[in-house]
Amino acid sequence: MTSEKQRLGVNIDHVATVRNARGGDYPDPLRAALLAVEAGADGITAHLREDRRHIRDADIAALRRRLSVPLNFEMAATDEMVGIALDTRPHAACLVPEKREERTTEGGLDIIGGRDHLTPRIRALSEAGIRVSLFVEPEPAVMEAARALGAPVVELHTGSYCEAALEDDAARTAQELARIRRAAEHGAVLGLEIHAGHGLTVGSVGPVAALPQIRELNIGHALIADAIFKGLALAVRDMRAAMDRARSA
Ligand code: PXP
Repeated sequence: MTSEKQRLGVNIDHVATVRNARGGDYPDPLRAALLAVEAGADGITAHLREDRRHIRDADIAALRRRLSVPLNFEMAATDEMVGIALDTRPHAACLVPEKREERTTEGGLDIIGGRDHLTPRIRALSEAGIRVSLFVEPEPAVMEAARALGAPVVELHTGSYCEAALEDDAARTAQELARIRRAAEHGAVLGLEIHAGHGLTVGSVGPVAALPQIRELNIGHALIADAIFKGLALAVRDMRAAMDRARSA
């Protein structure tokens, strides 16, 4: 039994994706965020991409003004985004890789090759009191690199695990889960706070939620997809219940 409550960060990017498909201001990501909080979200995550394909600058400002829970600002490690974070002062900033052509964040941040670029940006955010997390591949060497960079938090990329689970490939799912477990254990020993996310669904969340080192999961696409059929509040409650069940098993 894992006693500590695991936080659920609800990513509302895809409410903005639907809004932007028709222009205008409906559906409103802020309204979705407030509803998700009412339904049990412990935090809200939003990714302001360089091309503003979903979340817009005004969404971040509104979330920052109105949320009663922590805002996790997902961002590329660019000067523009660091500037916006320093102006907005979210609770946390999660640094992610970002290429214009990719549909979503497809791999972890290269924090080994990108060390010189990342160091001053992590420092600037940290000095402003923003908790920096690095979205990375679940590998022990990467945990060491995150520690060396001085970031307090890593978010382990669960995409490969989720892909294997979706394909019903039991052997690869087990392998990918073991990779996440090893990285979580190693990172925690190094003193990092461990988060995880990307691609998680009600069906695949359990084994990841059960890992005791993982303090927070950030989940978006599956929640917004489920919300089409059962509403956002129930989608959030069902995800929360799946996490709690896994942790108390
Ligand atoms: N965590 C990070 C760092 C991400 O970039 C994303 C995708 O925006 C997520 C979590 C959520 O992934 P998904 O929308 O697949 O649940």
